[in-house]
Amino acid sequence: MTGGASGIGRAMAELFARERAKVVLADIDERALAAVVESIRTRGGEALGVTTDVTSLETLAKDLRPYRIGVSVLCPMGVATQIRESARNRPPDLANEAPSVSEPVELMGRTLAPAAVAEMVLAAIRANRLYVITHEEALEALRRRHERLEQALLETKA
Ligand SMILES: NC(=O)c1ccc[n+]([C@@H]2O[C@H](COP(=O)([O-])OP(=O)(O)OC[C@H]3O[C@@H](n4cnc5c(N)ncnc54)[C@H](O)[C@@H]3O)[C@@H](O)[C@H]2O)c1
Repeated sequence: MTGGASGIGRAMAELFARERAKVVLADIDERALAAVVESIRTRGGEALGVTTDVTSLETLAKDLRPYRIGVSVLCPMGVATQIRESARNRPPDLANEAPSVSEPVELMGRTLAPAAVAEMVLAAIRANRLYVITHEEALEALRRRHERLEQALLETKA
């Protein structure tokens, strides 16, 4: 679980460990990571498991199907985490010279708790669902995107 020391990753790691899954944690914030591992251990879970970035999850899901390995991709909108302070764990040599002055972005839709998102991910994995779309508020935007793709197909054919 990359980024397992905070927010969504942490909530998933804790829930999956409670469910007796094997979870592997990776995070650049080592102190937080040690604390999470300890909290998982004291609940009787094991610290093992994997998540990774992939560019084509549909392809990955298809490739892994013969091996009975499922793929689920989490597509969240607002989740109450420390994401706005993400610069906190950036290595010093990658830090921005000037602090960011951008205005806080108004998030669309509800802000969910990380634990609620973790429950959605677990349910999706159990049902072997590829997409975990946490917010129904995304529906209209998804429809519009699909319509644009259909339109592009029709125009390309003509
Ligand atoms: N919170 C939201 O509203 C939201 C919405 C959409 C997408 N996301 C995405 O969800 C993911 C998790 O974010 P979060 O909201 O839980 O934030 P968070 O800041 O609470 O947690 C992110 C964790 O990732 C770790 N991390 C950062 N860079 C890393 C690296 N290179 N290697 C290993 N660990 C690293 C950080 O140390 C931190 O513990 C992010 O990719 C974020 O962009 C979040």
